[in-house]
Amino acid sequence: MTKKEIKNRIEKLKQEINIHRYNYHVLDKESISEAALDSLKNELFKLEQESPEFISPDSPTQRVGGQAVDKFEKSTHFSPMLSLFDAFSRDDMLLWQERLGRFLSDNKEINFQPNWNYYAELKLDGLAVNLKYQNGMLVKGSSRGDGKVGENISSNIRTIDSIPLALQALGEDDLKKIGLNDKSILKIIKSGLIEVRGEAIMTKKRLEKINSLYLKESKPLLANTRNAAAGSLRQLDPRLAAERKLQFYVYDLIFYEDKKKKNILTSRQKAEKLAMLLGFKVVQHNKLCKNLEEVFDFHKYWEKNKKKLDFNIDGVVVKINELKWWDTLGIVGKAPRYAMAYKFPAEQATTKINDIVWQVGRTGILTPTAILEPVNLSGAIISRSTLHNMDEIDRLDVKIGDTVIIERAGDVIPKVISVLKNLRSGSEQKICTPKKCPICDSNVIKIDNEVAFRCSNLRCYAVNLRQITHFVSKNALDIDSLGPKIIEQLLREGLIGDFADLYSIKKEDLLILERFAEKSADNFIEAMNSKRKVDLSRFIYALGIRHVGQESAEALSDYIYPLIKGKTKNNQLDFNDFIEVILSLEAEKLKDIEDFGPIVSKSIYAFFRDEHNLKILKKLIEVDIKLLLKNSNINNLNKNKNVFAKNFLLTGTLNSLTREAAKAKIKELGGKVLPSVSKKLDFLIVGDNPGGKLDKARSLDVKVLSEKEFLGLINFYGNK
Ligand code: IVH
Repeated sequence: MTKKEIKNRIEKLKQEINIHRYNYHVLDKESISEAALDSLKNELFKLEQESPEFISPDSPTQRVGGQAVDKFEKSTHFSPMLSLFDAFSRDDMLLWQERLGRFLSDNKEINFQPNWNYYAELKLDGLAVNLKYQNGMLVKGSSRGDGKVGENISSNIRTIDSIPLALQALGEDDLKKIGLNDKSILKIIKSGLIEVRGEAIMTKKRLEKINSLYLKESKPLLANTRNAAAGSLRQLDPRLAAERKLQFYVYDLIFYEDKKKKNILTSRQKAEKLAMLLGFKVVQHNKLCKNLEEVFDFHKYWEKNKKKLDFNIDGVVVKINELKWWDTLGIVGKAPRYAMAYKFPAEQATTKINDIVWQVGRTGILTPTAILEPVNLSGAIISRSTLHNMDEIDRLDVKIGDTVIIERAGDVIPKVISVLKNLRSGSEQKICTPKKCPICDSNVIKIDNEVAFRCSNLRCYAVNLRQITHFVSKNALDIDSLGPKIIEQLLREGLIGDFADLYSIKKEDLLILERFAEKSADNFIEAMNSKRKVDLSRFIYALGIRHVGQESAEALSDYIYPLIKGKTKNNQLDFNDFIEVILSLEAEKLKDIEDFGPIVSKSIYAFFRDEHNLKILKKLIEVDIKLLLKNSNINNLNKNKNVFAKNFLLTGTLNSLTREAAKAKIKELGGKVLPSVSKKLDFLIVGDNPGGKLDKARSLDVKVLSEKEFLGLINFYGNK
């Protein structure tokens, strides 16, 4: 190839590569495969190496050119980079509108009626960047700094593919298409000075990808997309910036003529259309709104749907669309009057760590969960947050009693992101791994080369899961919307550690879980609320005390009835009073309970003295459970004299009624259902396929009733 041919080929390749860059990064269209594009870039690179005199700053090979720099030079912006006033409510926005009206009228004759539209834009959460284009070429990229002077971060900026190194050439027709007709626009694009401002961001997907790679390489993870974008551009090595693959969205175009700002673009909407034609990426969702009502709809929609975006936003920026008002309105301090950042509710908050509890996971791994002073975060009350493992605790250097910053990034479960150590008083406590498992009291062990600590009892998680499943089962609290899969999910996400936590779950906690939608979350909360008042014996049964089945639970509730008499109101007992009474019962007294053998009494006594159980019971007191007393408790106090004032037990399947119905009938008529066969048993009712109880009853000379005989008795006494 002759030199001329090489030059032409280089120009053509540059143009071709730029077209595909534009399609991919600005229009989100892939017009060529990555491999084919790389091949074009390779050819260009080779030609430029052979003829370095043809290398120009707008060549795609120059995106990652230089070596790491020692430090960034200062860079003065042509006009200051302003910040924004914040609004947090509709009222704030209405007051702003009122101020705008007053301000514009004040400056004009009495009857002046200002009229404007709003341009509502998504407020991207990244790093503000200023790009300077001279004669159509990118000459500098800088950070915002103090608004007047930033840092020259050009070497990093050039690595961002969605930033054109040269502005796309335009003609009059292009301008006409977007409703602009001042020809000096074309002149400035070609040979003037333009500042292009916008936000450099990292997409959520990119962050995930980088973090999964860093995890494998044991590198520290990037905390969030904002820090990742800022960190990538503020470090000194352009190769690292290139690796991070940031994107850039434009939110302001400033045209200068003779170093003076020119408002020739007439409106924000047209300026945005022009930015696109020049080769930039703009947010496609931004919207022209006729009034604040439309702005409110836009804000509401994006607050709800922001998770659908691949980048993080923290609000909506509302600007007066017509640029002619901008200068009239002017600037107050460092922010203009013409715009407002209408923020979404805070995603970060500070709170205190009150305690740490350890959850036992499916594989026995102990995960620390921080119990927080409840705090409102994006409209949800947050009271717990996972700390992952001991390494995370060490990394954050967090202690019990610390004030921490918690964050809900996107829609994931909130996490502790940092500790405000200056606020420490000295009374904070170090977090230690428990020596014994909080669920089963087995030894806790650390496996070599693993971060995690585990419960040495392999069945521990299963025990906890079974306990919670039992608590909500049919004969206990009877919450059918809560299957084992959901319980597992709640445990996994750290939303519950035990069954008492079910009462503290909030709708917002559920909505961010996979299986929950509005309706199912509402159903769950409603179901739990309806179980704040539960029949006493049912609740005792639900606690899952070893050896305490429905009958023993019934016997225990009958026994304590006289002891709680003065404490009840409308046949309701506070859970607190229940615990007080139970704790006052000595082991010996429990043995006295009719039909309780030493095993049952011992088990009940031990249950209410176990540290882990007491923690759960304390939570139940806090959620204000009320226990309901049934007539059977009262009836059993004054046993009547009929045949039913006897002890019954059922075995095998009954044909004409369920076991539950049979038991209810016995109790209704003043009888009692015993938990097991003993000498005290008066009648064993035998259905189909009876179990071992029948043999035992026979050996103890207990009277055996067939289903038919039993029905006869019910009939006789029931109709008396
Ligand atoms: S306009 C004078 N528009 O928010 C107006 N800013 O809190 C200057 N930001 O520093 C900014 N999205 O980095 C504007 N659509 C948008 C924006 C936006 C994000 C950032 C920007 C600014 C900060 C102010």
